Amino acid sequence: MIASGLLVPRVRGEEVRRDLADSGLLRPDLEIRHEGEFLVLPLVESPDGVPPSWGEVVEREFRETPRKGPARYRDLLPWPDSEKEALPRSFDVVGDIVLIRLPEPLEARKAAVGDALLHFVPGARLVGLDHGVHGPERRREVERIAGSGPWRTRHRENGVELEVDVERAYFSPRLAREHARVAEDVRPGDRVYDLCCGVGPFSVTIAHLGRAASVTAVDANPDAIELLRETLARYPFGGRVTALIGRVEEFGPTAPLVERVVLNLPHEGIKYLPSVARTVAPGGRLYYYEVVSRTELVGRGKALVNSLQSVGEFVEVAERVVHPYSPASDLVAFVLERSR
Ligand SMILES: C[S@@+](CC[C@H](N)C(=O)[O-])C[C@H]1O[C@@H](n2cnc3c(N)ncnc32)[C@H](O)[C@@H]1O
Repeated sequence: MIASGLLVPRVRGEEVRRDLADSGLLRPDLEIRHEGEFLVLPLVESPDGVPPSWGEVVEREFRETPRKGPARYRDLLPWPDSEKEALPRSFDVVGDIVLIRLPEPLEARKAAVGDALLHFVPGARLVGLDHGVHGPERRREVERIAGSGPWRTRHRENGVELEVDVERAYFSPRLAREHARVAEDVRPGDRVYDLCCGVGPFSVTIAHLGRAASVTAVDANPDAIELLRETLARYPFGGRVTALIGRVEEFGPTAPLVERVVLNLPHEGIKYLPSVARTVAPGGRLYYYEVVSRTELVGRGKALVNSLQSVGEFVEVAERVVHPYSPASDLVAFVLERSR
């Protein structure tokens, strides 16, 4: 069948495939095409949803993936095809919980969608309608539409199992690759601050990898820190992480300098960037996250570096789209290194 796909060089194929899968954009019912030095990865969403830096959107003929049972959850809904058009193609899976956003006209039919997802996703226990994250602590508003039990679960990513409560503390499975990338960039003996750590996926992944000398994780949400402490208590490497309830604005001035600092507060982090940058040791790196409109991405890294001139000399060593945020904006990681 003819569908949209993303043309990427073979050498970047696996990385982009995982990014698309984490973002819910990889279409599972179609096979990846091999074209010489390129791959074409089948897309679920309209091409607008894909960050341009990930590859070129093309139209291709794809073969269907052989699979037992229905290929998509929508196949389980006994609706005419025209009524299925508005159904989202992607959803998130957090442990044994499935989360989906529905356009308003479909909310009246949420129970049927919930049942379809409960049967479609292997191991699913509970399906929630995702009303988005709210407030300074970015807590998710969820509504049960199928299944049963608590919002508390364990989510597996990058070889660790995280304690998650989708209502009480922020967590997104779409950041899994980014957690791994930052952990892989930590050198033996580095000290790490994970600011706005949520339930601690950066910290836990870094500690699990075993290179960091110490990790200090800070979040203003006490529930997030409680969940992180429960995760750490299950692992022998948990003792390397100190989990603290605290505000990032109170953290900077007295904190000793360290080699790796993560600041993941995409809408407000810019306010704290200078004080947080002060905690980066010479030669160390700051991983800063921001939602950036696609038309404003060029030059943003340089502007961030310039804004830190009063703190010290920084250079941008990497910039990557973590996942699409809206049809016109992306969550972007800026890696800023402090000069020696
Ligand atoms: C986008 S979440 C990041 C979660 C985590 N880093 C991850 O990768 O899953 C932002 C987190 O910042 C926390 N937060 C918001 N304002 C804060 C502040 N002023 N100081 C410390 N933490 C804050 C929220 O409670 C939330 O857990």
